[in-house]
Amino acid sequence: MEQYLNMGIKDVISRFPAAGDLLNRFNIGCVPCTVGTCLLKDIVDIHSLSVEDEKELFTGLGEIIHPGEKIVPPKIERKQAAKSGGNTYSPPVKSLVDEHKLIKRLVALIPAIADRADPSTADGFQVISDSVGFIRSYADKFHHAKEEDILFKYFDEGTDIIKVMHEDHANARGHVKAVLEGLEKKDKAITSYNLKKYGEILTEHIKKEDEVLYPWMDRNLTTREVGEMFSKFIAIDNDFADEAKKYEAMIQTLEKNFKNQGD
Ligand SMILES: [Fe+2]
Ligand SMILES: [Fe+2]
Repeated sequence: MEQYLNMGIKDVISRFPAAGDLLNRFNIGCVPCTVGTCLLKDIVDIHSLSVEDEKELFTGLGEIIHPGEKIVPPKIERKQAAKSGGNTYSPPVKSLVDEHKLIKRLVALIPAIADRADPSTADGFQVISDSVGFIRSYADKFHHAKEEDILFKYFDEGTDIIKVMHEDHANARGHVKAVLEGLEKKDKAITSYNLKKYGEILTEHIKKEDEVLYPWMDRNLTTREVGEMFSKFIAIDNDFADEAKKYEAMIQTLEKNFKNQGD
């Protein structure tokens, strides 16, 4: 068992496929752990498993890896105390979680916008341009830039979990670029497909950040780093305050027109 602790999660799962199902039961089937070098022993820290879950998971893994043998779950060294209760965020990280809320409001409208907004009509063109304007400015230039230029810089950016976040940002940008090309060609198939793809990526991405990445980062940031990040964020937020208000109003208007009745 011990020898597998230093093995990449991806390799463990490909050698013992049942381990993938077991990890899923603990919500550890997420992509960040299966990209490359994230080690089996790292999941305890990254997912902040409770002591009980750690024991149950590693006993289960032991039974999969060494069937029929008596399993003594290994003791994993933790950098942080085990989690108790739900996620609580530091003030700067909480501000990123709050920004996700506005981004998620637009993402929730994407299926309706993709189906109904036709770029060959003036109204449709406008709605898609407004949505892309929000995505490029608020979600990317403002929010993703805070993550990439400030938050992620406090960590080793070679870590799988951060590499995946960068990849998600890049893939999302690719779809936004394609939406713009579809707009130019007034081609609804292109705008719809890429808007939906963007929505799918962002939904998963935000979930990973809110539930795994941010809590893990918060547990590893020092008080000084949290304070420093907070003041950097406040400076950016102040510069962007008017834009943010404008986008919030725009999302409200889009919701009036595209939110399904009964939502
Ligand atoms: Fe992100
Ligand atoms: Fe984010």
